[in-house]
Amino acid sequence: MQLHHLLYALAALQPVMATSLVNFSAANGDNPSTIGMLNLEEARGDKIYSNTADLYAKLGTDPNGTPALHYHRKEGYIRAEYHALHKKTSEDQTYYIGYKFSLGTIEQSLMIFQFKAFEGNDAADGGANIPLSLEFKSGQLHLQYQADFTSKRDPQWSKTLSTDTVYSAGIVIHTGKPGWVEFYFDGEKQTFSTSQSTRLEANTWTGQEEPKFGAYRGEVVEINTYVYNIQIGTELSDIEEAAGLGSSSSSGSSSSSSSGGGSSTSCEWEGHCAGASCSSMDDCSGDLVCKSGKCTEAAGSSSSSSSSSSSSSSSSSGGSSASCEWEGHCAGASCSSMNDCSGDLVCKSGKCTSA
Ligand SMILES: *[C@@H]1O[C@H](CO)[C@@H](O)[C@H](O)[C@H]1NC(C)=O
Repeated sequence: MQLHHLLYALAALQPVMATSLVNFSAANGDNPSTIGMLNLEEARGDKIYSNTADLYAKLGTDPNGTPALHYHRKEGYIRAEYHALHKKTSEDQTYYIGYKFSLGTIEQSLMIFQFKAFEGNDAADGGANIPLSLEFKSGQLHLQYQADFTSKRDPQWSKTLSTDTVYSAGIVIHTGKPGWVEFYFDGEKQTFSTSQSTRLEANTWTGQEEPKFGAYRGEVVEINTYVYNIQIGTELSDIEEAAGLGSSSSSGSSSSSSSGGGSSTSCEWEGHCAGASCSSMDDCSGDLVCKSGKCTEAAGSSSSSSSSSSSSSSSSSGGSSASCEWEGHCAGASCSSMNDCSGDLVCKSGKCTSA
């Protein structure tokens, strides 16, 4: 059989239906309820069901006046998210998820996307995990993968982002045990640092897994984020706009990472550089440490033998243990799922515990 005959034959077998599951555009004035369910949580456990002045996700504009779904979360509050595809996902499917957003604030541990497991995590179903997430650490956005509820959320891809800048993400998830993941950022297909490939084999199905968009964790500061488009479908073409595919590539202007360049010093995390105020090392960019409330270059050259603990992570509670970034969610704190515990800690028998 000649190749083109084979291709015709294959094409005839393809179902022709691209199915757009979510197609939200703030510029079109679409009601955000087309994304899914609004999840608002004030103090942990205090869920509310409609927007308030301190906690909301509603149509508005970004600081430049561009129409956007504006997420606002007061300092200390837990979440403002839209939960899409509730009870609509299934195994062995490929979901294309496009997400165009900008950030008023970039905060340690702020999570702006979850593909969250709601069922089938462990024998008791109690240990929720987040197989895929987009979370900030030291000013870098990480795409993280968590293999199961006893595992850490491991970064697979990272990029330093800035506030007040529009970014486009495209997350392709094939649900399975294992399934796989591919990732686009600003219209370009990305290579995972772990697999060294554009595809990551991943457990993406435990029985019920669904995407959430908005603001979770990182609650030590007020959060504002802005979402322009969310598209979900079964073909790449369903997410062209939200994932920044298609038109974007021609410009060539911004994409080339000028990162290396001459940009000053080692500080990547704007607003968290030397001299910025801080309450813990997590507030300071890169290698900077928090000394007397200010981000500062680590000693290194000078003689001073740092008396500051090079503490082993075992040291519990006390002030801020080195390994725990999320105050009140550290080892020993009570929890109902892994989502309640800082960083790598897992929820075991109702307490956050080292994995
Ligand atoms: C999404 O909606 C816009 C109009 O708001 C439309 O032009 C576009 O074709 C839709 N995309 C898909 C994949 O259905």
